Amino acid sequence: MSGIFGYVGEQNASSVILEGLRRLEYHGYDTAGIVVVTPQRMIHALYAQGKLSNLEQSAQMNPVHAGYGIGQANWVSGNPDDVENTQRREFGGTNGIVVVLSGQIYNLPKLKKKLSSTTALHQQTTATEVVAHLISNNYRDGALLEDALQLALKNINGEFMLAAISKNQPNNIVVAQHGLPALVGIGENEYFVASEIPAILHQTKDMIKLEENDLAILSSSGVRVIDSDSFPTTRPVQHILWDSLMTDKSGYKNFMLKEIFEQPRAIRDTAMGRIDPQNGNVFLAELGITAEELREIRHLNIIASGSSWHAGLAGKGMIEELARVHVEVEYGSEFRYSDPLIDDRVLTIAISQSGETADTLASQRLAQKKGSKTIAICNAVDSSISSTALGSIFTFAGPELASSSTKTFTAQLTAMFLFGMYLGQIRSVLSEEDSKKYAQELLSLPILVESALSSMGFCEYLARQFWRVSKFLFLGRGIHFPIALEGARKLQELSYRPAEGCAAGEMKHGPSALIDSEMLVVALATQDKNHPASCVRYKKMLKQIQEVTARQGRIICIANEGDTTPSQYANEVIYIPKACELLLPILEIIPLQLLAYSIALQYGCNVDQPRNIAKSVTID
Ligand code: G6P
Repeated sequence: MSGIFGYVGEQNASSVILEGLRRLEYHGYDTAGIVVVTPQRMIHALYAQGKLSNLEQSAQMNPVHAGYGIGQANWVSGNPDDVENTQRREFGGTNGIVVVLSGQIYNLPKLKKKLSSTTALHQQTTATEVVAHLISNNYRDGALLEDALQLALKNINGEFMLAAISKNQPNNIVVAQHGLPALVGIGENEYFVASEIPAILHQTKDMIKLEENDLAILSSSGVRVIDSDSFPTTRPVQHILWDSLMTDKSGYKNFMLKEIFEQPRAIRDTAMGRIDPQNGNVFLAELGITAEELREIRHLNIIASGSSWHAGLAGKGMIEELARVHVEVEYGSEFRYSDPLIDDRVLTIAISQSGETADTLASQRLAQKKGSKTIAICNAVDSSISSTALGSIFTFAGPELASSSTKTFTAQLTAMFLFGMYLGQIRSVLSEEDSKKYAQELLSLPILVESALSSMGFCEYLARQFWRVSKFLFLGRGIHFPIALEGARKLQELSYRPAEGCAAGEMKHGPSALIDSEMLVVALATQDKNHPASCVRYKKMLKQIQEVTARQGRIICIANEGDTTPSQYANEVIYIPKACELLLPILEIIPLQLLAYSIALQYGCNVDQPRNIAKSVTID
């Protein structure tokens, strides 16, 4: 998904658009451009490859005053030798009409074929160029851009949002919402359009979220919205409660570190108001499914991608233990192409921080088609996945701007734990005594996470000791295995090191072959002494650690404060506070995040925008 920003008003459009694109930079885009129109109806276009600062420099060298324009940031595709042309084509421009588009057009080959009889197209003509041609072909002198766009849209099949301007219709931006979010920011005699909230928040908190097939026409005197039949319609202006500080680094070196340290707050906000500390009762107001309906459910189906899939896997452990219901966990990218055996007695939970991941959304729709009720665990209110679901458990992590998930991950685990408790309570399998105990554990978790964060300095020290090893293996068992997977994923994403997560018992079936003095093994050796299965797991893990040491592997253990046993076998031990078995994962991931972060810094990597990684993947 590209980052889109547009502006019409009294400020200098170039600077405002560049600032808007800067707020979207966290996606790690590697090319950007802006197109503005001067009062003399001259179109000025600037493109630059690489970081946004290249485009900013170019804008400083070519200053131009304009009252409206649009900008886009994206990833370069196509032939790298042809970057200039590729960038130019990403801004479909023809006959004084310029378009920026984010998303996918499914019937592109058909549209190109149709257009080719009247228009000269290149082999690499982009979707955006095709849309610009379609608008242009429908545009007659004296006509309105929105009418031409509306006609063009009738032929386009896809999931996208776009913004278009014409030099012949001064101070107007037309915006279309077709499957991907489009936001219009309302200022004083100035208006903004963006593909997501953080881009606008520093300018205004008042926004209109366009609905499916809406067209918005922004001018310096206001905003009009029309529906797909061109009838005027009104959409509520929402006052976004996010603080713009949430989208600033607030003194931290980067967003990643800031977001790691925001986890106590994110967990507290996600749990707060949903659990009664007196009796442990859980309330999930926006679930959209009644307790009676939930009792009818035979089993649960979790679909997710990336880190959210790891959260789902840990969530399975929580829900199965708290509510005694069978849970399946599937990758969105697999489920959507399968013929799943589900029906109306299966509840599907879609987990997604962005709420826009294409594979998860497609899987959610497939599950619904099969009769399954769906709920979402999501960090984005009004996202496609939460809007498609019957109801949601929102995670209140706040905007996460580093590409790699941290606080949304632990907030997802918190939401899964709450859901497990709720299901256990309505199915009468979770006693009041256990509910009370778990409620206390959950509500005191933010303080324990604060304490786990104090291992930062030690993790930096460990990174300096071990950053040069050639490979990493993360070991966990039971509900801790997904945390091993997530720890490995953080390291891969942030430092580009080969890292694998492994169920500890599987070591002997292959991964053991990798162990030598060049490998660092990170083992989750925590223990809840009140949980019999946890004690078995712990003993087994200690045995595994000794096997690694015997093969000259180097080992870091994550263990509980006060437990000196792992230090007898491991090279180093990172201590975290004690907690119950089902909540230990939330504490364990903290030092793993810090370790991955610190190792990445040793390599000089950009932790906020790792290479080749997108924050939300809206294509399959
Ligand atoms: C991308 C991100 C990951 C994220 C995954 C799923 O790959 O880089 O950090 O876990 O998408 O995203 P979602 O928004 O569905 O949680």
